[in-house]
Amino acid sequence: MKQKLTALALFGALSAFLSGCAVSGPQSESQNLKIGISVYDQYDTFISETVSQLRAYAKEKEQDWNMTITLDVEDANLNQLTQNDQMDDFIKRGFDIACINLVDRTDASSIIEKARSAGVPVIFFNRELVEEDLERWDQLYYVGADAFESGIIQGEILSEACAQDFAAIDRNGDGVLQYVMLEGEAGHQDSIVRTLYVINTIKENGYRVEKLGDEIANWNRSQAETKMNQFLKSFGSEIEVVLSNNDDMALGAADALERSCGSPAQARAAGTPWPVILGIDGTKVGLEALQNGRLLGTVLNDSKGQAEAILELARSVVQGTALPEGIELLDGKYIRLPYQKVTAENVDEIMLDMQIKNW
Ligand code: BGC
Repeated sequence: MKQKLTALALFGALSAFLSGCAVSGPQSESQNLKIGISVYDQYDTFISETVSQLRAYAKEKEQDWNMTITLDVEDANLNQLTQNDQMDDFIKRGFDIACINLVDRTDASSIIEKARSAGVPVIFFNRELVEEDLERWDQLYYVGADAFESGIIQGEILSEACAQDFAAIDRNGDGVLQYVMLEGEAGHQDSIVRTLYVINTIKENGYRVEKLGDEIANWNRSQAETKMNQFLKSFGSEIEVVLSNNDDMALGAADALERSCGSPAQARAAGTPWPVILGIDGTKVGLEALQNGRLLGTVLNDSKGQAEAILELARSVVQGTALPEGIELLDGKYIRLPYQKVTAENVDEIMLDMQIKNW
């Protein structure tokens, strides 16, 4: 009997070896999860990092979940009609689920209709559609973060720096913080809410502010550099604080300053200190800029956590498995990851946490 079993085991191992597969019992039969992903703009730094995190997590989970995960990532190239066509294509090719980073967050109806009539669930992410749209079908979900939190944390970072050394920031000593604001896209939930909450928080903490200028730079580094050059022309060294809705625009402001008065260290040596600059996202370039003193602080928009939540939710929706502990589905529809403060004190640690092979 024992000999018979050994012979059977040997035969199993040999056939697995010949077919190049691991030995697997019938209960652990491998499956395929096919996910279509469309992003509004593949050149957006935060979005491209989210995509890298999605790929990394999918790779990591293939073994744990004993399945092949196919991710087809498409770029909508800032065009809602292109994205609608991509949804058609995902349906035609038999994808299990679609993950959509809407181009126009107010124009989700076409994608929703296509999804509903084909029975393909959709996880929207990062660009939040209006609640009524999300209510249109019970197979629609949203993964993102609460924008107001990031505005509050950005305001707290500045307030804490003021509490430590107000005179270093209020360089003209008038007791008021003269600031310029760089805003993301008009109509994006994160631009509107971050702009409002950062100022409210600074004021609530007892600091007076004066807005010198406010410009939209569409999340974009080079547009922000142009806007910052204009601010520098109009207000020069009057600018004490640069508040930016994301890291890329904060870096655009830093680029403009560097061209006009050198790096922070060079400027300090020449007696022309930089204004303090604050971003949001904690992208790789943002964290590096914090490490080398170009930014005072940033707020981690957890691309890694969001990517993990998207894939865990995708699996749960398609296969009916429970979500892992720590990922909460609110109202059966929303997963929101918390933001986190990043300053010189914890930047190295955050950098390590966020690191993935693709960086
Ligand atoms: C990020 C920005 C990004 C935008 C794209 C925001 O949450 O902070 O960096 O450009 O999403 O939708």
